[in-house]
Amino acid sequence: MKTKNMIEMLETASPVLEALSTLFVFVIGLLVLLIVVVFIFDITQRKNAVLRNYPVVGHFRSIFSSLGEFFRQYFFAMDREEMPFNRAERDWVHKAANNTDTTVAFGSTKNLNPVGTVIFANCPFPTLDEDASETRPITIGEGFCQKPYRAKSIFNISGMSFGAISKPAVLALSNGAAIAGCWYNTGEGGLSPYHLEGGADIVFQIGTAKYGVRDEQGKLSDEKLTEIAEHEQVRMFEIKMSQGAKPGKGGIFPGAKVTPQIAQIRGIGVGEDAISPNRHVEISSAQDLLDMINHVHKVTGKPTGFKSVIGATDWLDDFFQEINKRGGGLRTRFYYAR
Ligand SMILES: Cc1cc2nc3c(=O)[nH]c(=O)nc-3n(C[C@H](O)[C@H](O)[C@H](O)COP(=O)(O)O)c2cc1C
Repeated sequence: MKTKNMIEMLETASPVLEALSTLFVFVIGLLVLLIVVVFIFDITQRKNAVLRNYPVVGHFRSIFSSLGEFFRQYFFAMDREEMPFNRAERDWVHKAANNTDTTVAFGSTKNLNPVGTVIFANCPFPTLDEDASETRPITIGEGFCQKPYRAKSIFNISGMSFGAISKPAVLALSNGAAIAGCWYNTGEGGLSPYHLEGGADIVFQIGTAKYGVRDEQGKLSDEKLTEIAEHEQVRMFEIKMSQGAKPGKGGIFPGAKVTPQIAQIRGIGVGEDAISPNRHVEISSAQDLLDMINHVHKVTGKPTGFKSVIGATDWLDDFFQEINKRGGGLRTRFYYAR
């Protein structure tokens, strides 16, 4: 009886088994065919030397290379190992962005042995919050600017142009700067309504393309400079001398990013690539730099400085000599900030 049942079961299952085995053979056949096609394609193509020398298996190289990135990131890299932002930093930002506690107990994951590492030493009688002294404000431009600026904070927000960062980012930073009582630098992309909306003190940056203060020919427009200076919130001006991250190069702001609003703020054509020269065309010496600073300061009535990456340093000798030569109080007018 049992044997009869089994035979019946096998008879019913056999078409399914047959179909499965045919499918298996078909898949294997397809796989072999695919390998043959890829093999022929690889050894006949002339673009990729690895695939020509190692047909078929050569593909695993790029697959493993891209997979390796994730394996290293999640399994093998130590917390403080990666560049430019390591896992510890990314986790901190993630927690802060989610409003969760960013405090990590029990020691540091940083190596504290290198000479010069900052260590907060314990003190038996630490300062109470109410006894901590306020940062002493610095008045910039007092005695020679129509509108000097009283800067309350040592730490401020460095320039990041609208366009390089989005509306929500600019809004977050301008609101944050107002709460923190520090200034917020526009970066070289001009002054957007979002910079003003947060209510922070603003430093207007003049980049080499003079976005926001340029005329039709791309030259500095005193008229536009005056308009920007009329905003009470714009407290100071900064001439950005060159691109720090791209020594010797200018900048390209791709046309795809030039929306009508960005075009209007920067003073350029909608959808057109915007090119920043690698320096201000008017500034080719320390003398020119001082002339330009004086010019912007006179037109705006507000303190004017410059931002430069200190790579080569020889020019600074000329610069300070020129300041000494010009005298007339110019020597006392320079503060520097990182
Ligand atoms: C998204 C982004 C945009 C930036 N745009 C400008 C800019 O318009 N003008 C400028 O002088 N620096 C710009 N920078 C450089 C910063 O102002 C700053 O000098 C640089 O990031 C180094 O400071 P950090 O080490 O604190 O990041 C930009 C940086 C970033 C990340």
